[in-house]
Amino acid sequence: MSTPFQVDPEVMGRIRPMQFRDADRVAVLHEAAMGRSLWARLGHRFLVELYKALVDSPFFIGFVYVEDGEVQGFIAGSVDTSTLYRDLARRRMMFLGPAAAVGLLRQPAVALRLLETARYFGRSGAETVTAESLFCSFTEGLRGKRVSGHINKVLFDELRARGHEQVKVTTDADNEAAIRQLKSWDFAEVARFRFYGKDMLTWVLDLTRSPRVEAVFRHPAV
Ligand SMILES: CC(C)(COP(=O)(O)OP(=O)(O)OC[C@H]1O[C@@H](n2cnc3c(N)ncnc32)[C@H](O)[C@@H]1OP(=O)(O)O)[C@@H](O)C(=O)NCCC(=O)NCCS
Repeated sequence: MSTPFQVDPEVMGRIRPMQFRDADRVAVLHEAAMGRSLWARLGHRFLVELYKALVDSPFFIGFVYVEDGEVQGFIAGSVDTSTLYRDLARRRMMFLGPAAAVGLLRQPAVALRLLETARYFGRSGAETVTAESLFCSFTEGLRGKRVSGHINKVLFDELRARGHEQVKVTTDADNEAAIRQLKSWDFAEVARFRFYGKDMLTWVLDLTRSPRVEAVFRHPAV
């Protein structure tokens, strides 16, 4: 069982909800750490449009960590990922479509992977768990210092406050840093699958039983 999370008020004070104006910087951080991910391969412009669309959706919960006047890390979560993506497609396709088209012209092979996305929800397991931590990334100098742990806590507290009992995360099977962090939170590995040509793992945390999670709202409902 994980131990209660020791909160550093200074670190906590540097975390705020993600906003529209953060999209460009968050896209840069996403590309830097997850450049091989499908969304990143559609290019910077697509990622900027994606994050602008996400912050505008009621199904999205995002936080950023700000130090020295600049966003140095972020977490992107959802209350229901399939509904979130449907919401984006319905309301923001006029922005996301052209940006994706530019990316696809540059990397046509990504189109096949996009088609695979439709099958993601059937393959990743834990289908009954709707709440998800989608992406999290910090600048290299801030990794392994439990700063990222704080932003995870903020997301999980928010989900619990909104009544969610579980949260899921999928990772590459070889992402040691992410797996170390998930294990420190007592996430349970519930599925292994192949996706985008990679071995992936699905993890679930019981928010109701974790000594690290408290029901605290810190994010405005859109
Ligand atoms: C994945 C990522 C967010 C993890 O963040 P992190 O800074 O390593 O995480 P933290 O320092 O908050 O937590 C690491 C946990 O592992 C523990 N740990 C054990 N051995 C460790 C070691 N050798 N080094 C670092 N942490 C270690 C820490 O103590 C901590 O547990 P605790 O909260 O119980 O103290 C970060 O590595 C990153 O930004 N990676 C690039 C992007 C990425 O891969 N994102 C995930 C895909 S969505």
